[in-house]
Amino acid sequence: KNIDPCTLVFFGAGGNLSRKKLIPALFHLEMLSRLPQQLVILGCDIAQYDPEVWLDFVRGILREKHGDKIDEAALQRFCARLHYFAVPVGDDAAYARLQTLIDEDPRFPPNVMYYMAVRPADYPGIVEKLGNVGLLKQKNGWRRVVIEKPFGYDLLSAQTLQASLYRHLDEPQIYRIDHYLGKGTVQNVMVFRFANLLLEPLWNHHYIDHVQITHSETLGVENRGDYYEGAGALRDMIQSHLMQLLALVAMEPPVSMAAEHLRDEKVKVLRAIRPITQNAVHAHAFRGQYASGTIDGKTVPSYLEEKNIAQDSTTETYAAMKLFVDNWRWAGVPFYLRTGKRMAENSSAICIRFKSPPQDLMRHTRQGPPPPNWIMLGIQPDDCMRMEMQVKVPGLDVRTRTISLDATYRKDGDEEFDAYEGLLLDVIMDDHSLFLRIDEVEAAWRVVDPVLKVWAMEREFINTYPAGTWGPRGTYRLFDREDQFWRHSLDLEGAKLE
Ligand code: BG6
Repeated sequence: KNIDPCTLVFFGAGGNLSRKKLIPALFHLEMLSRLPQQLVILGCDIAQYDPEVWLDFVRGILREKHGDKIDEAALQRFCARLHYFAVPVGDDAAYARLQTLIDEDPRFPPNVMYYMAVRPADYPGIVEKLGNVGLLKQKNGWRRVVIEKPFGYDLLSAQTLQASLYRHLDEPQIYRIDHYLGKGTVQNVMVFRFANLLLEPLWNHHYIDHVQITHSETLGVENRGDYYEGAGALRDMIQSHLMQLLALVAMEPPVSMAAEHLRDEKVKVLRAIRPITQNAVHAHAFRGQYASGTIDGKTVPSYLEEKNIAQDSTTETYAAMKLFVDNWRWAGVPFYLRTGKRMAENSSAICIRFKSPPQDLMRHTRQGPPPPNWIMLGIQPDDCMRMEMQVKVPGLDVRTRTISLDATYRKDGDEEFDAYEGLLLDVIMDDHSLFLRIDEVEAAWRVVDPVLKVWAMEREFINTYPAGTWGPRGTYRLFDREDQFWRHSLDLEGAKLE
């Protein structure tokens, strides 16, 4: 595809997101010659760096990541694209200088992507200042703004943020990133559902018993205490990433894969989620916080002992929810979502449990009910597709055994991309399919808002779980029936009732 020449301005150029994700992603695209030839990168931050210092900073990040194997030619090409511009705190005149630079210096193509790799609280201020000096007007080229979650901390604040962006931007200029949607395995959910005929007839309440969506991490809160204290697991993961996964699993087939068709279907699902009344919060949501414990054989501190965490914090590091999508397809099917830090494993997966056959004709072959079919879509690190089925054990007797059909699809030589790489190119190509529309964000907040309210009122109470485990036992109370249980593993042993 032809890609427009463009200037990528990123605010927060020296920050965490740039260091960890954006600079490495852009460099990887450079290595693969996937960046537009005329892409100029203008890093902006509060420090008064000389251009050389900034280049050293970027080289340092990339050399640390790639070591001796770094592609020197690509590094040289990449560095030739880099510029730096200081926006010191309180120096509003800097924006006027930035305007002169972008609008008058021929080195900078007039199509501009502004990436806000800064604290969300800073988005409105930066947009306001860019708008005031005319940097968001689409005169000679396009102007697009990329923002990262969290989009507000509840529905009202999300709407307030939105109102401030709309003062200077139209909806098509805004790209709300949910980096989960950039993951190949997440996009595979749509391919799996809509490029195969086999499953679609079964994909409904007639055949599916329930759906589980999990994101667990062994990492703790690390150096993000400042942010995480005000967020917690429900806002950090469920309102955004896991709710998006739910939408992809549950949505109707879109008319086409065009952005608006896709987003129309996702928002319909999110709107169909049954509202949780305040009285029902305990039956639908569960939270916990990690105590000290063991990860990889090492003792790790409790959440309360981490940096920048209040001594009496009740911020949840584990959250689980039971949701119902009240529509024709999903009537009565629970969707269980859970996420946690300092858990037993790093694992993101969608597990779908099917109902049992209407008659148990094989009951003489075993004690108890028949093991159900499961479909497992591993998101990371295990990017698998598995299906558990019953087969006959070879031999004279009729006995059954559960087997796992493995359709793991990665092959040697397949390209590996980080989620951010595709998303950055999508912004340049004006493709909103993998970005959130404001109505999706609002619908997701409507689902979690009542839980956040009740949890905020009950601040004295929080369950704990030892680091390195699968979370508090009490979470099992969310299940509708006694034979439902969290699937911790995508391998066969995970299919057993705990
Ligand atoms: C981020 C959350 O959005 O997603 C983090 O803020 C979380 O807390 C991360 O660790 C998980 O994403 P990934 O891609 O690293 O699994």
